[in-house]
Amino acid sequence: ALTAATLTAGTVAGTAALAACDDGEMVIKFSHVTNTDKHPKGIAANLLMERVNEEMNGTACMEVYPNSTLYNDDQVLEAMLQGDVQLAAPSLSKFETFTKVFRIFDLPFMFVNMDAVDAFQNSETGQAMMDSMQRRGLQGLAFWHNGLKQFSANKPLEVPADAAGLKFRVQPSDVLVAQMEALDASPQPMAFSEVYGALQTGVVDGQENTWSNIYGQKFFEVQDGITETNHGVLDYLVVASVDWLDSLDEGVRDQFMTILKEVSDERNAAIAEVDAENRQAVLDAGATIRELTPEQRQQWVDAMKPVWEQFEGDVGADNIAAAQEINA
Ligand code: LMR
Repeated sequence: ALTAATLTAGTVAGTAALAACDDGEMVIKFSHVTNTDKHPKGIAANLLMERVNEEMNGTACMEVYPNSTLYNDDQVLEAMLQGDVQLAAPSLSKFETFTKVFRIFDLPFMFVNMDAVDAFQNSETGQAMMDSMQRRGLQGLAFWHNGLKQFSANKPLEVPADAAGLKFRVQPSDVLVAQMEALDASPQPMAFSEVYGALQTGVVDGQENTWSNIYGQKFFEVQDGITETNHGVLDYLVVASVDWLDSLDEGVRDQFMTILKEVSDERNAAIAEVDAENRQAVLDAGATIRELTPEQRQQWVDAMKPVWEQFEGDVGADNIAAAQEINA
């Protein structure tokens, strides 16, 4: 393979990346939907690519396709089962048709901060969740952090009543649909790549996402401001097909999994810093960030937390209890 730097540059051109793999090298295509600069997933995916291409040179070659250039999240898992792509890292809200276990991460105010999310994912319960889709042909390999979500709209949002009657883009998750309904808002599931245009043209009034996605997609340009609600989690599962993993020689699989684990640990440990950088970048771009008073925040909690009851059956009361214990 060519050098990591050449590969990174080649990926931008798309087809140029294909030329970077040498004959006889196994090609690992990694498709994702976010930007690469400053973004937790973009950074982690590129670091994984650089390390694979350096340390597995001659055996394997990774190509990263960011920005939905290869697939949207609603296509990528089917493409993976067809063998057209080997790696992806969709958010945990995008696995609904394969498993309901990840719904716990979408429940509003389930985790107090990203340390709690990290501890839960690394618990026995969290680790077992990575095996939940084996029967459907998918294997979770690692959790990658992004961060907590914030609300924005084309008008100021201070209390839940401000969101009533507005249309909000949500990821395709029943929990997120229920969350917006709890606010008397209208949820509109939509692919990530379409959100900016939908906000700009008024197809939707608002959205919820993390600082890195709000900055990376420039949502602030077409919104009144961002309200710092920290009301939910957006994290990722790095996933591969069971068939592809089974097809690898044991030594190759072990080497790949070791690199993936090291990259995951390193980038997950840096999440607070990356999140803060993106928040600052939104401010520096001139956007308004509204912080909530404790009383205002309590109103959002009171409005949205009843959603837990609706999904307790899917998520498991024991898992909810385990998450709450980690928060304490
Ligand atoms: C979204 O659709 O808002 C996110 O899942 C995008 C991403 O990958 O962060």
